Amino acid sequence: MNLPGSPHFHYRDDVLHVEGLALPELAARFGTPLYVYSRTALAAALAEFQSVLQSHPDGSLVCYSVKVNSNLAILDLFARMGAGFDIVSGGELERVLAAGGDPGKVVFSGVGKTEAELAAALQAGILCFNVESAAELERLDRVAGQLGKVAPVSLRVNPDVDPKTHPYIATGLKSSKFGIPLAGAPALYERAARLAHLRVTGVDCHIGSQLLDPRPHHEALERLLPLLETLAERGIPMRHLDLGGGLGIRYRPEETEPTVADYLAPMIASVRGRGLKLLLEPGRRLVGNAGLLLTRVESVKPGCDRNFVIVDAAMNDLIRPALYEAWHEIREVVLRTAMFSGQSADRGAAVRGTAVHKTSETLCDVVGPVCESGDFLGRARTLAVTGGDLLAVLSAGAYGMSMSSNYNSRPRAAEILVDGQTPHLIRRRETTADLYALESRIPA
Ligand code: LLP
Repeated sequence: MNLPGSPHFHYRDDVLHVEGLALPELAARFGTPLYVYSRTALAAALAEFQSVLQSHPDGSLVCYSVKVNSNLAILDLFARMGAGFDIVSGGELERVLAAGGDPGKVVFSGVGKTEAELAAALQAGILCFNVESAAELERLDRVAGQLGKVAPVSLRVNPDVDPKTHPYIATGLKSSKFGIPLAGAPALYERAARLAHLRVTGVDCHIGSQLLDPRPHHEALERLLPLLETLAERGIPMRHLDLGGGLGIRYRPEETEPTVADYLAPMIASVRGRGLKLLLEPGRRLVGNAGLLLTRVESVKPGCDRNFVIVDAAMNDLIRPALYEAWHEIREVVLRTAMFSGQSADRGAAVRGTAVHKTSETLCDVVGPVCESGDFLGRARTLAVTGGDLLAVLSAGAYGMSMSSNYNSRPRAAEILVDGQTPHLIRRRETTADLYALESRIPA
């Protein structure tokens, strides 16, 4: 079966596995809801970017976008493979440092960096500040001056290109809060070049997320090229070009995603001969299809035109369906056919630890226990499930755990990184006591 995330997520004897481990075994050992990632899939996704970028003669750096999944084990894995990081807060900088990442490979994006965050990044010695406004430029110059440092900067330019994605995750239109309008960029670069505590090093651009058509990325680059020429004419040479993130992934089995080469090769060709190092800030494409959310069915409740499959994961664990009406493929972990085929049926039953009985496919909404009608993981799905069964919510590695919350006082899920036959617990399950550990009652 051609699942998003395959071949590292695959059925063997009708039981869904991540690499060499059967998901029912992970559920039995670590409980549910559970985020499960494949180390091989993570490494392969980063290696694909790095190998395509090798054809760029002036150097390159993949800066993984930390917001997408900020678990230390994932940051560590990418750091060991030579990746840099794209951060948007002081907290993300601390995570990168805690994971052993090299601050000299960190770019700092975001429209609202505080003075404390700028200072921390200057002290750490990051590669570049992606500056988003004139006010931020002045603030950075001042903070750098106070610390006796020189801040490396690029300006995030907004090329006004429609990325044709969900409006909440489009950032490169002129109506968006992000970046500096292209027309105003040369003047701001001249201003930056005159400030004593800044060193202008690059141009940055990020137009949006989950782009399944690479053409808006290519168009954005075409709009940036004249700016590079203008800056060169004005004696402000650039060392690098940061083309942001945004390459989409396949969420539905019938979707096709562009290859990394489809996306990058035309850009590498346009940039060639300019002496510019290429930086990229991919996130979703590196981790989205390397992870899934494993959940157990609490019960099935008949509704007027469909069943409600009530599971133990909810919008607090994965908010993307509620927030963006995002589609995540949901699959039975043990296929019903397993029950009728001798040995594999026994294996399915054994690993689930429940009796096997026949259930037919029905139309259902997969919902969580949270008190909101928006608390669904998938609607109008056809599934054959009963209470106690396991479901896998696919393509959940990106913006899943990192956007989770404790709404309804629900402890956050545990996270497992599977490496072949070995499951590594990379975040333990929260306890309810963790949730109120920072709170206090007032004196009597
Ligand atoms: N660089 C910058 C400056 C960004 O703002 C982002 C994402 C990225 C890189 C990484 O983009 P990616 O390669 O992952 O598309 N929560 C939403 C997506 C928000 C995107 C925010 N910025 C979702 O779940 O779809």
